[in-house]
Amino acid sequence: MPQELKIVYYVEPDAAALARRAAQYFVEQAERAVAARGLARIAISGGATPKATFMLLADPARPWRARMPWSKLDLWWVDERCVPPNDPDSNYQMTREAMLDHVPLQPEQIHRMEGELKPETAAARYESELRSGFRLEGAELPRFDVVQLGMGPDGHTASLFPHTLALHEVERLAVANHVKNKDAWRVTLTWPLINLGSEVFFLIGGADKAQILKEVFTGARNPERLPSQLIRPAGGILTLLLDRSAAALLPAPDAQGCGVLERT
Ligand code: 6PG
Repeated sequence: MPQELKIVYYVEPDAAALARRAAQYFVEQAERAVAARGLARIAISGGATPKATFMLLADPARPWRARMPWSKLDLWWVDERCVPPNDPDSNYQMTREAMLDHVPLQPEQIHRMEGELKPETAAARYESELRSGFRLEGAELPRFDVVQLGMGPDGHTASLFPHTLALHEVERLAVANHVKNKDAWRVTLTWPLINLGSEVFFLIGGADKAQILKEVFTGARNPERLPSQLIRPAGGILTLLLDRSAAALLPAPDAQGCGVLERT
């Protein structure tokens, strides 16, 4: 991981503005990746926050659907709950309803984590799909163009929860992770893989995230308790897209709504 980490955060006035900013960011980063490499490999998270953004990306009445280079996208997941794909808890289900059913992505462009399988089987199959999907040679590792992350009030990201075994996995690309306080299994990308992403950003909104954001990004380093601190992109820059409620305990942004934190 890089010694220095530059955290650049953009603060939007409310949830609706944050969703618009995130839709714009997804399109801009996808366009940049396609311009550079002819393809945009994007890994997305689940939970509630990104749903509004996914709906905007799929909305024909908004500018982003027409701008997104859908035919050049390869869509992956950062994590998934170990439930069937039509389960209300499924990240895939949320994404399908909000976006996939309304945009021109072909099945081969959509790489779902198979939450219906045994957790370790799903993780191993996803790792294999990453290796084949990225056409890796030998010890090469997948480098996503864009990784979108959320953060729970407990400081977890992806399905890297505090005090869980996945925090210590540094060889695998994807693992099954048992989350004791949810009595649930998840499949998650590992943090070293996430950190290889060219553009890694957190999309976080709501007053219930203000305290944890302050602890994660300005407090003492304690990744076992605050797994989001493991996210230190290889390029040395981490982007946060926040709403004002979530950013309330961070240093005030400048007049353009932008702030910078430096972490070693
Ligand atoms: C998941 C997500 C998870 C999510 C955070 C924040 O499977 O739940 O991938 O990491 O990003 O829990 O979730 P909210 O956006 O619902 O607060």
